[in-house]
Formats: sequence, C-alpha cells, structure tokens
Amino acid sequence: MTLRACAATRAIVESAELAQNTAMIIQIPSKKDSLGGLEGKTVLTHKPLLAAILGERQERPPLWIMRQAGRYLPEYRAVRTKAQNFLDLCYNPELATEVTLQPLRRFDLDAAILFSDILVIPDALGQSVRFEQGEGPLLAPLNAESVAQLKRERLLGHLAPVLETVRRLRATLTPGKTLIGFCGSPWTVATYMIGGRGSTDQAAARLFALRHPEAFNQLIDILVQASIDYLVAQLEAGADVVQLFESWALNLDDQAFAERVIEPNRRIVQGIRARIPNAPIIGFPRGAAGNLAKYAALTGVNALGLDYATPLDFAAKHLPAVLPVQGNLDPLRLVAGGPQLDHRIDEIITAFADRPHIFNLGHGIVPETPIEHVARLVSRVKNG
Ligand code: CP3
Repeated sequence: MTLRACAATRAIVESAELAQNTAMIIQIPSKKDSLGGLEGKTVLTHKPLLAAILGERQERPPLWIMRQAGRYLPEYRAVRTKAQNFLDLCYNPELATEVTLQPLRRFDLDAAILFSDILVIPDALGQSVRFEQGEGPLLAPLNAESVAQLKRERLLGHLAPVLETVRRLRATLTPGKTLIGFCGSPWTVATYMIGGRGSTDQAAARLFALRHPEAFNQLIDILVQASIDYLVAQLEAGADVVQLFESWALNLDDQAFAERVIEPNRRIVQGIRARIPNAPIIGFPRGAAGNLAKYAALTGVNALGLDYATPLDFAAKHLPAVLPVQGNLDPLRLVAGGPQLDHRIDEIITAFADRPHIFNLGHGIVPETPIEHVARLVSRVKNG
C-alpha cells in the first residue's frame, strides 16, 4: 500500500467515525490499487467535497473557487473598508469569519476557505509585510544574514487570531460544508521573502538559492517547520482539509523543482501526518507541468490541484486512476462568460468523470468577474 493510500484510508475511517445521522452513504470503489483494504466497503461522510478529496468519486463534482472571498463581491469590498489594511482584516476574527462566509451565502459552494493570506507566515516571523493599493504585497527583502534573525517562536502566538477565525467558522458552518485551511508552500513564500514583492520570473529567489545555498536551506527549514505547526493548528481548530499553495512552481529546472518544491512539500505532508495521521491535504503546484505526476507521487498529498494550462487528458495519461484532482477552469473564461464558459465547464467535468474530481478554477478568481457568471458556473456544475 502506498503512503498516500494509507493516509487516505485512515482519513476515510476517521470521517466515517465523525459522520452524523444525516450522513450520506458512500460506496468505496472496487479498484485494485485503491484505498488499502476498504475497497467495496461502505463508509459514511456527510461532506461531498471532503469525500472527493478522500478518494470518493461524486455523482456531480463538488466545487469551491480559489479566492472565492474577494474583490469581485461588493459585500467583501464593504467589509474591506472597515479594516485599516489587508492584514488587519486577516487578523480580525469577526471580519475574517464574515468575509469567509459571504460567498457561501450567495452560491451553493461545497466548501469555505479560511480568509487569510499566504504572507501571514513571514509577517508572524517578524519580517515587514505591507499591502499597498495597486502594488500587491511589499516585504523588506531578506538577505543571507537576516534569515537567521527570523523569530520562529512568535509564530502561533501571532497567528492566534487566524486560528480563532477557524474555530468560529467550524462552529458556524452547516454540516455538509467542508472547511479548508491553507498556507503557502515554502518555495512560494520564500520568493516573496527574498524578492520583496511578486515577480514574473522569481529571479531574486532563484539566484539567492544558487548563491547562498546554506542561508536558503535554513530559510526553507524554518518555513517547513512553520507550515507544519500552522497547518496542524488549523486542523486542530476545525479545518477539515488543508491546501498547500505552491503558486510559483514554474520557472524551475527539474533539479530545482525536486529540491525546492517536492522535498519541502513532502516534509510538510509527513510532518503533519506524524501529528495527525489522517490529515487530508490538497497540493496545488501551479505551473508544475511535466513535474505534476512526480509531485503527486512523492509528496503524498491526497488530491492534486491542476492549473488551467494543464491539458485535460493529462490526468488520464499520467496520474494514478484513484488520485483525486481539483480544477481547472481558466478564470478569464469566467470573466468572459457566454457559451464558451458552459462548453468548457462541461469539457472539464467530462474529462475527469472517471475519477474523484473537485471542480475549481485553475487559479484565483479575478476582481473583474461578473457575479452572474459565478452563479452560472455553480448551477452548471451542480445541475448540468
Ligand atoms: O481563496 C480564498 O478566498 C482565501 C483567501 C486567500 C487570499 N489570498 C486572500 C487575498 C488565499 C488562499 C490567498 C492566497 C495567496 N496570497 C496566494 C496563493 C494563491 C495565488 O493566488 O497564487 C498568493 C501568491 C498570495 C499573495 C497575495 N496576497 C497577492 C499576490 C495578493 C494580491 C494583491 C493585489 O492587490 O491583487 C494578495 C492580497 C489578497 N489576498 C487579496 C485577497 C482577497 C486582495 C487584497 C485586498 O482585498 O485588497
């Protein structure tokens, strides 16, 4: 039995134990190399999206939308003005809970994703992080000396308000909804910590890793440990599943990909499961392209997020038949709407019909997205 199947099995048993009277009954598929011993048996879960992550194909794919709480919603923009700056909103449990729930009030989504940001970890470690209007995130760039000055001991104290948001969400969400926690993966977070801002080629971090391998490895070690502690805390506070956002998995040669993406993500998965054996984990290595299958096999994630550039026949050709996939509509198709949107939604659903599939965009929703198009997407995915 593979590590992944083993973890998936434990998670299914656990979710069966958690299931309530209202639960729906799910048949485990009888596939040879699937879920280590549970094949053909019946387990219970009342959360379709969690069930898909754990390896259960659903009749219609459950769905959520990356960045589903955000500027395309007028009610988000209204709450946003109440906080001085974006990080204050992330650290305000009342407002962050409200903003997390807003998209679920409008649309029949199957999951809520904690409202926060991947850059709360550098902020918690004591690096200066600011969000400027129209500029995106701005950080005081790290150098080879300042890595050692990061304050690991501050982490969970600083992030306590985010964990309080998770507890409030857990208490509020209706039983059928899955609660997703997340963090940025070490390489992606490091590109912002080293470069000081977003970039198209991550050149600053790529050069830093090559010129200062010791300081770079020290930084990755700090981020791996911080990610484990933070995600375990989110799961203990009530998250059903956590997603690793490796948003900058592109622009790396295969050796750099193995060292900077696969290995740190693998260590996080292993570190979480050493403390919570059944922890369900989604990995989203955006831009991983030819490295996707290796990423899935070697990290041990339960489900693999696909970006919109991943061909629809990729999973059938290169991924194990039991591996759940998530994705992968181009967010700009959702902006444009019309017949092309319906057509592509149907194509994606058909392409992944034989395996567990969670419908999602292939990257975050953009602020220009018309709300009616989101409503159309949800209805098309749910009802055909
Ligand atoms: O999905 C969700 O609804 C949960 C919330 C969430 C946010 N950011 C809220 C946010 C999540 C999961 C993220 C992840 C995130 N943050 C990533 C990884 C995913 C991806 O998109 O690649 C990255 C790279 C970041 C860093 C970051 N934060 C950027 C590049 C920006 C954009 C800055 C801009 O001006 O567009 C942010 C800010 C941010 N994070 C906003 C939201 C809703 C917009 C800030 C605002 O309201 O002013």
